[in-house]
Amino acid sequence: MATAIRDTRAIPVGTAYGRLPQHSHEELTMVGPGTPMGELMRRYWQPVLASRNVTNRPREIRILGEDLIIFRDGEGRPGLLYPRCMHRGTSLFWGHVEQDGIRCCYHGWKFDVEGNCLEQPCEPNPRAARPEHRQWYPTRDLYGLVWAYMGPPERIPALPRFDCMEPLDEGEDYLAFDNSMGAHGDPNGPEVVPYSWLHMNDNVMDPFHVQVLHTTFSGTQFVREFEVMPSVRFDEIEGGVTYTAHRDLGDGRTMDRVSTWMMPNVMCVPDVAMRPGRPNSLGFSVPVDDASSRILMTMRTPMTPDGKRPMRGLEIEHFKPWSQRTVEEKQDQPGDYEAQAGQGAISLHSEEHLVTSDKGIGLQRRMLRRAMETVRDGGDPPGLAFDDADAEIRVPSGNFYLG
Ligand code: FES
Ligand SMILES: [Fe+2]
Repeated sequence: MATAIRDTRAIPVGTAYGRLPQHSHEELTMVGPGTPMGELMRRYWQPVLASRNVTNRPREIRILGEDLIIFRDGEGRPGLLYPRCMHRGTSLFWGHVEQDGIRCCYHGWKFDVEGNCLEQPCEPNPRAARPEHRQWYPTRDLYGLVWAYMGPPERIPALPRFDCMEPLDEGEDYLAFDNSMGAHGDPNGPEVVPYSWLHMNDNVMDPFHVQVLHTTFSGTQFVREFEVMPSVRFDEIEGGVTYTAHRDLGDGRTMDRVSTWMMPNVMCVPDVAMRPGRPNSLGFSVPVDDASSRILMTMRTPMTPDGKRPMRGLEIEHFKPWSQRTVEEKQDQPGDYEAQAGQGAISLHSEEHLVTSDKGIGLQRRMLRRAMETVRDGGDPPGLAFDDADAEIRVPSGNFYLG
């Protein structure tokens, strides 16, 4: 009896009482203009939406903490403009798109995609060449995505090309998604995920969660080969980090799965169905603001004769789409969204315990920090080219079977 009383009164160790306030590494998560990461991000072309979703219907979009208007003019050129009309400030969200630009609803001033004011219809000479120029950002279409450059104009780099994405094979086309679940076959996933861009960026250099979260914990979300805990090597490459996950599959096959992260937020994961060879997709974790992000993806995929484009590689056919699952079903079989939303909008980095398996994340964050210092000191961060001839990026990713 006396023993039992002593046990219940033993002082518990490690309770949550009195825990210290924790903090984030804000230099990594804050992306607004003038912040170190915001300035680093702005030195790279960033994909912002799938090309098919940029139309003659203006839409509001937030990128890197900036609220902008995006549309496509009648010539097919994407436009990304500061929303407030330079006349008296109404939003171009209410504007109408024409062949050569967008016309403000209030007094009809018209602007082209490079911000030139083309018309001021209430003025004595409505079409006189106008000196007024509004604020805009350069855009391009590539791989089914609209890309924007939001950095200093004098440092605009060449639009990057990725060797795994071209040339297209016979009958292939690009299929891009700007909703975080689109590549998983769910058109109704959240377009913007409610957490920092760094969550998904960390995730791509984390081969171990594939064995746990995507396979042994939640059931096989990709393929059973991921049940094997890999031995992993991380390598720093020019402007990025790779991991090589080596698996002995136990059926006579051994393989190296090589994934690549490239500055500052590009992900190239090989086929998750473990088909051999080079990857057919690219992903991007693009900050919307400090606490939310957009996960974009583009892939090469064969077109069927009827013009439909079936997905290849990233579909999880045997799973109910994320947007149709109940909370309980998500608890039973959580995926990346649940794990990352669970880290909070901005993770508390001071309470992380990075261990051996997080080495790739350490390499990424160190590279990002070095690059922020380079930009601060007036230099160009790694991975940029300033001539189209040098703009091809060689991506080492792939599923390589060894025997
Ligand atoms: S506020 Fe846009 S034209 Fe007047
Ligand atoms: Fe994942």
